[in-house]
Amino acid sequence: MLRGPRIKLVPIKREYIESFLKWVNDPEITQYLIMYRPITRMAEEDWIESLREDNESIHFSIVIFHENKLEKLIGNCGLNNINWKDRIAEAGIVIGEKEYHNKGYGTEALNILLEYGFNTVNLNRIELLVYEYNTRAIKSYKKVGFVEEGRKRQFIWNDGKYYDALIMSILAKEWEEKNKKD
Ligand SMILES: CC(C)(COP(=O)(O)OP(=O)(O)OC[C@H]1O[C@@H](n2cnc3c(N)ncnc32)[C@H](O)[C@@H]1OP(=O)(O)O)[C@@H](O)C(=O)NCCC(=O)NCCS
Repeated sequence: MLRGPRIKLVPIKREYIESFLKWVNDPEITQYLIMYRPITRMAEEDWIESLREDNESIHFSIVIFHENKLEKLIGNCGLNNINWKDRIAEAGIVIGEKEYHNKGYGTEALNILLEYGFNTVNLNRIELLVYEYNTRAIKSYKKVGFVEEGRKRQFIWNDGKYYDALIMSILAKEWEEKNKKD
């Protein structure tokens, strides 16, 4: 079971689609993501359907669990563009329920995702791109062990200005070292 102290990562379910549509059509969320067009219900249904055949990515929903079995869906995360030969994947995460930002849930989800990526999927390198103005995400990524290894200059156009994107990554040996049990 993929779980931390407060959350667990569960398979994507069709019944979550209302929340997904809300998140991916919210500019406060999408300013940090690659997507900028409105996403229709049909497109979202197609995406969920496509996961069944997708051998290059592994997606999860993030839910807060309670002892009384009530669960609260707050976001999604996953490993994308998995390169099975060189054992590399791109990490992605969205806490779409904004009132749950800054409460440590994103960092907890990333820790579970990295543990799964390195120890179950046997990846050697997990990487991501993050826009320079996404200070909350950068802080969270650094906390779980990602390091900045470069920048894509003027990569993203946002609100009338270009911004850089940071290239961040973590290697299996760094993850192991950081999480070594004494
Ligand atoms: C990025 C994201 C996953 C982080 O998850 P989260 O649960 O909100 O973040 P956490 O609470 O785990 O950690 C955020 C840290 O950044 C800090 N932080 C928040 N805003 C900050 C700011 N403007 N400047 C500096 N630090 C900031 C928080 O205090 C916290 O650090 P702390 O635990 O030391 O106090 C989540 O906010 C999110 O999904 N955002 C929208 C989509 C997105 O940006 N996705 C990533 C695209 S690359």
